[in-house]
Amino acid sequence: MKKDILPEPYQIPKMGTSGLRLKQEQYNRAGFLEQFTEGIARYFKEITSTTKIAENNTHLLLGGDPREGNSERIKTMASILTAHGFTVIVPENGLASTPAMSHAIRHLKTIGAIILTASHNPFTDVGIKINTANGAPALTDCTERINELQNDVQDYLTQDYKTALTEGLIKTIDIISMYADLLDKMFSFKDMREKIEGTPVSAVFDSMHGAAGPFAREVFVNRLGLDPLMLREEPRTDLGGFDDKGEPKHPEPDFDYVSDLINQNSTNQFSIAAAWDSDVDRRLDGGSGFFLESADEFAIFARYSHLINIQSMFNNTIYFCRSTVTSHAIDLMSNELTTIFKDKTIKTVQTPTGFKWIAELGNWGVEESNGVGNPALREKDGIFATVFLLKIILETGKTPLQLMEDIWKDHGRVYFTRGEVSGSDPIEKEALINILKEAQSQIGNRFGTLTLENAGSWDYKHPETGEIAEKNAAYFLEFSDGNSIKARFSGTGSGGYTLRVYCSKFDKNYSIPKTRIVQPMKDAFDDFLQNGGFKGKSEKYTDSNQPDVYL
Ligand code: G1P
Ligand code: ZN
Repeated sequence: MKKDILPEPYQIPKMGTSGLRLKQEQYNRAGFLEQFTEGIARYFKEITSTTKIAENNTHLLLGGDPREGNSERIKTMASILTAHGFTVIVPENGLASTPAMSHAIRHLKTIGAIILTASHNPFTDVGIKINTANGAPALTDCTERINELQNDVQDYLTQDYKTALTEGLIKTIDIISMYADLLDKMFSFKDMREKIEGTPVSAVFDSMHGAAGPFAREVFVNRLGLDPLMLREEPRTDLGGFDDKGEPKHPEPDFDYVSDLINQNSTNQFSIAAAWDSDVDRRLDGGSGFFLESADEFAIFARYSHLINIQSMFNNTIYFCRSTVTSHAIDLMSNELTTIFKDKTIKTVQTPTGFKWIAELGNWGVEESNGVGNPALREKDGIFATVFLLKIILETGKTPLQLMEDIWKDHGRVYFTRGEVSGSDPIEKEALINILKEAQSQIGNRFGTLTLENAGSWDYKHPETGEIAEKNAAYFLEFSDGNSIKARFSGTGSGGYTLRVYCSKFDKNYSIPKTRIVQPMKDAFDDFLQNGGFKGKSEKYTDSNQPDVYL
């Protein structure tokens, strides 16, 4: 073991929605990762030295997606963590999905996990996040303390990596089997496999060259006996490299980035189609020519939640959660849910953005950004969602569109799209904030074809403590005829600003072309910004490249 001095310690920024994301160049600065890790080691020492926070009070998981530099980072970090007396548990090849890590924390009773991923950001970004002993993403009291400790670091301890290995301080686990076993418990793979053998099911999956490929192969091929068409299966350090414009590809299951999957699904030959992001906590699901919007798919899951073995994981109150900027499809189903879960209290809850809020309420919830949770772990889980959809297809014999239309017929449809306004000028960002803050002064004015009827900002009142747990989690603008817009600044970027814009409108009639419904909201929002003196406009709407079934 040795101690090294940092010649010039860095000012390390605080972690955001999902850990600290920075460009490769920033993470790769000499001594940066060492300082970052030393702070984490000191934090876990601090919280475990006098209290037992987990059965294995010195065990920490360390792993992540395949992006460039992660395997070297694991070695550097393991050398520092073992020097502090921790046993570091590393998945084979360092490859892990975020949900599998969340499950492994609780399954192996460790004090937490360090997950190396910048999620759906390109390989040019690096991200590191912390999950705590309950399996969930660290809350701010933890991340802020880590940040304080990191910025105090002057020197750091290291242990020779090979020595640590031979001394058994670094252990390898098969996290893929561990995770597949969990899904097996929830879904009864044997039953599913029999059904798959009886009814030929065809599948197409896009792993986007992230961590998903080996997990998908184990679950869908080895355990369930499917023979899917696997796109971009192999994990790659460049997560697929660059697009035609020379931009690094986004390993994000969004209509902008999965053109092959869209083409394959449009052939109508696949009962199920899915893509997952680099750390496999997001998904895009569909099949038979159709794709499901995130909150809509959750509505299907809610209707069929009795099909899977999760009942014992619920408390007396089941929270069906969605982030406030997500479509309120689930809220429309409250009465139906009460009849499904007769002996439970059902609450539909709106949370701020970030899955930690949903995790602490039991993890049964959804975000519009393609994340959905399951009550068995404390993160979003992409493959869980796809297996669940497959199970429902097998049990009902219906296509995803038929399943969806059943719900829309009963409850109506929330038309939904998300866009963004982005830039790099901090003055511009300030201007945007002011326009949104002062939106109330515009009530009664007409923007595009819509009239602004109400505006403000939404605070999160915790459903259990009743406290205001998050102030100003989103701005809202309510226009005439039930057209509703929410907006908030992204917390996961690695430079500049991104204002996310969410448009939604409820209609009993579910088969109207989506563009016809959302366009007036996009126009009204742009008009509202221009009226406030802002020059830019909202763009990159998720519906732009989304195939619509009602044309
Ligand atoms: C984005 C998503 C948000 C999600 C987060 C982490 O955050 O919009 O729903 O929880 O990634 O995956 P944002 O960049 O909007 O802060
Ligand atoms: Zn992710």
